[in-house]
Amino acid sequence: MIPARVQDAASGLTAPAYVYDLPALEAHVAAVRQALPGIELYYAVKANPDAELLRVLAGHVDGFEVSSAGEHAHVTNLFPGARVALGGPGKTDAELRLPHHRIHVESPNELRRLLATGLEADVLIRVNPDLPVEGAALTMSGPFGMDEEGVKECLPLFGERVRLRGLHTHLASGLDAAQLLRLAGTLLDNDHEEVNLGGGMAVSYESPESRFDWATYGAGLAELRRGRRLRIEPGRALTAYCGYYVTRVVDVKRVRGEAYAIVLGGTHHLRTPVTKGHDQPFAILPMGTGSGVTDEPITFVGQLCTPKDVFARKIATSARVGDMVVFEMAGAYAWNISHHDFLMHPKPAFHYLSGCGPVLPPSGGR
Ligand SMILES: Cc1ncc(COP(=O)(O)O)c(C=O)c1O
Repeated sequence: MIPARVQDAASGLTAPAYVYDLPALEAHVAAVRQALPGIELYYAVKANPDAELLRVLAGHVDGFEVSSAGEHAHVTNLFPGARVALGGPGKTDAELRLPHHRIHVESPNELRRLLATGLEADVLIRVNPDLPVEGAALTMSGPFGMDEEGVKECLPLFGERVRLRGLHTHLASGLDAAQLLRLAGTLLDNDHEEVNLGGGMAVSYESPESRFDWATYGAGLAELRRGRRLRIEPGRALTAYCGYYVTRVVDVKRVRGEAYAIVLGGTHHLRTPVTKGHDQPFAILPMGTGSGVTDEPITFVGQLCTPKDVFARKIATSARVGDMVVFEMAGAYAWNISHHDFLMHPKPAFHYLSGCGPVLPPSGGR
């Protein structure tokens, strides 16, 4: 269900735009925070670094996970003094010198390079344990973090200046609370006083109304904590729901019997359905007066000259030229992971709904 204020905003648009529902984001992150007593909550900025979203999140999270010098500069400019956990594979020497609350070290070589900076550092070793992760949308195996051998190599290198604070891990994306708790139980079977369990909380694009079970997860983590400092760093499950990509049907046609609705913009604005291989959930605001098709499977595509520019395939609905299409769940790994300049179409506008006042404040703030 698209909230009425988002529908109002969408119906006033003529060109592709992102609409962010900031009150909905605020209510969601506040509820997540409440479900996690005693657990530190960081936001993984890679999911969506939009400054307006970060301003809302900043009031509820304990810090931010950043994975590049760019994200670090962005967050520390917006929130001087905020707690920053610096992660990411392949850190440059300049990145290893950045101030941090924690730095997630990915390899023994990276630790040696950190030591060579001569600076103080508070380190979490990123571990990549050999654990079966079933049912994940994306498994972070391969080059991320260290196996047992790598960890063994690192341990003697720590001292007073470069301090070992604990472990970090991020094993997979798209896991439910029970799956994440099972993994956490295994990962917390050690003496480390601090553990960051990463993100990866499931977001279902097939059922937009469903939500990760934060209450069960929070209660489970509270049991597993046993006096330790526990932290998580979700991205997608915090910001996916507050974002909408709104566009307009510019053509409806039939090719070899199949109906297509072509919308302004495309997956160079919203790449999520292509990267994840799903149908992006959407609603149609039937404002069009042009030709169209009624009650039949329609494939929604964008303006790009590639057959991959598909938002949703063969969805039973109706569409007319001039209808507005509101793609939901476009608040995470959406605009910021898209190939904006392909074909040089205009960029979308950005609108931020606030709790009061006009629904369409001027775009900006990127
Ligand atoms: C190290 C790390 N932490 C947190 C996240 C956030 O994951 P998600 O957006 O699935 O919660 C990611 C995503 O790739 C990651 O690599």
